[in-house]
Amino acid sequence: MAKVVITGANRGIGLALAKAYAARGDEVIATSRTLSDALAGVAGVTQHALDVSSADSVAAFVESLAGPVDILINNAGISGPERAQQTLAEMDYDGWADAFAVNSMGPLRVLQGLRAQLAAAPLGKAVTITSQLGALSLDWPMSYAYCASKAAVNKVMRLAALDLKDEGTAVLLLHPGWVRTDMGGSEATLSVEESAGGIMAAIDGLTLETTGAFLNWDGRPHEW
Ligand SMILES: NC(=O)c1ccc[n+]([C@@H]2O[C@H](COP(=O)([O-])OP(=O)(O)OC[C@H]3O[C@@H](n4cnc5c(N)ncnc54)[C@H](OP(=O)(O)O)[C@@H]3O)[C@@H](O)[C@H]2O)c1
Repeated sequence: MAKVVITGANRGIGLALAKAYAARGDEVIATSRTLSDALAGVAGVTQHALDVSSADSVAAFVESLAGPVDILINNAGISGPERAQQTLAEMDYDGWADAFAVNSMGPLRVLQGLRAQLAAAPLGKAVTITSQLGALSLDWPMSYAYCASKAAVNKVMRLAALDLKDEGTAVLLLHPGWVRTDMGGSEATLSVEESAGGIMAAIDGLTLETTGAFLNWDGRPHEW
């Protein structure tokens, strides 16, 4: 049984991951800014408050957590400013900073906090749900702030993979697919359950030999 910490677990992909890990018998620490009614009373799930953009909130969460952590899933994310406000012509710079705080800095903040707990596990796994939009190879001129925030977290986790290998912690970046959530919208191709199932299989396959990979939700390598 693995101990799995998930951020942004009150809705969307994070909620689906929390339910699916609990259903297969793992111990789930489901974190979110607002605790989820959907997870109340679910066997195997403990809920904790956590705002990944707040140093105080991360510190308080880490303080409350005892023992090794097998899997951290940095899932919390935001789209940033309105589409029209994150273009070449117009940029909401405060909104861009918010996107960086949640999507780029948040994952590292939580990873820093749980570094020792991950190192204490037989094979710690630090996973970040990024996006294909963070790939430098994808030429879609849209959502400058969101794309930049995901490209940044890709680089951060690539570096962390190098630093953490000797501690026995493996790092993985995952594009979850286009998923029907508040962020992905109703036209998206995947259900949260399909995406979560693929993500879990990819995490199961992660080893220290494959640390630092960027994969699609179905396990195929993603281009940088
Ligand atoms: N859906 C897609 O098609 C798609 C595609 C590519 C990548 N992704 C990525 O997949 C991840 C999950 O997305 P989703 O589609 O499930 O989005 P979602 O339905 O909008 O859910 C986002 C989650 O992130 C949480 N969150 C936002 N800011 C937070 C903060 N400061 N601290 C803690 N939690 C915070 C939200 O909590 P609140 O309820 O408190 O706001 C919510 O639980 C994100 O990283 C996203 O960028 C999604």
